[in-house]
Amino acid sequence: MIEYPLLFPISDAALDTIAEALTVQGFMLMDNFLDPALAQQISAEVQNLAEYAFKPAAIGRENEAQLAPDIRSNTLYWIKGQTLPQQHYLAVMEQLRVGLNRRLFMGLFDFECQYSHYAPGDFYATHLDAFTGQSNRVLSTVYYLNPHWSEEDQGELVLYRDEHSPALLTAMPKFNRCVVFLSDTFPHEVRVTHKDRYAVAGWYRINTSIDGHIDPPIEYSSAK
Ligand code: OGA
Ligand code: MN
Repeated sequence: MIEYPLLFPISDAALDTIAEALTVQGFMLMDNFLDPALAQQISAEVQNLAEYAFKPAAIGRENEAQLAPDIRSNTLYWIKGQTLPQQHYLAVMEQLRVGLNRRLFMGLFDFECQYSHYAPGDFYATHLDAFTGQSNRVLSTVYYLNPHWSEEDQGELVLYRDEHSPALLTAMPKFNRCVVFLSDTFPHEVRVTHKDRYAVAGWYRINTSIDGHIDPPIEYSSAK
């Protein structure tokens, strides 16, 4: 079993900064997000996953989910914590969940995440991860796993204030970089990538269960 020297603890100061950024501007970009050894392990795991393990990404929720290659052409693999690097990643994101709840009373209830792979030519057109009141996704996270990324590789994440405004944030998917943003606030896109592009996309959710109808569902549906 691989032991990491330490599981990267997110310091109180870092949590304060993230909470402040989310309050003031609604998003935050962080470089050197994880312990480098852990970042390396996660990156190695995702690059070694067979492409057939990744499923085509759909759009829409559960029963309404449908493939839409003109909007989104990446593939994905849901992370359930089957391996040590995954468990450590989930543990870090749990620290972030608790830390943000303490500071912002966001009521973040759980976290779901997936590896995503964009092959050369893949993209994700401008979209929102949640529509206010219609989704329990409240905070989006994207953690990038691509060493040696350069500008000509493109595949940037671009965040907009609204559809008609210039870009608020343009981020290359660089190794060990994490971007978090409010899911219902920022339309965003993944520009066409020219190189294989790997990330962990994740969402913190609130619990919107009503009258015994459990939402979020316990067993998450497959394709999305
Ligand atoms: C998503 C998404 C952004 C990225 O998966 O919903 O917007 O940079 N990903 O991979
Ligand atoms: Mn998105």
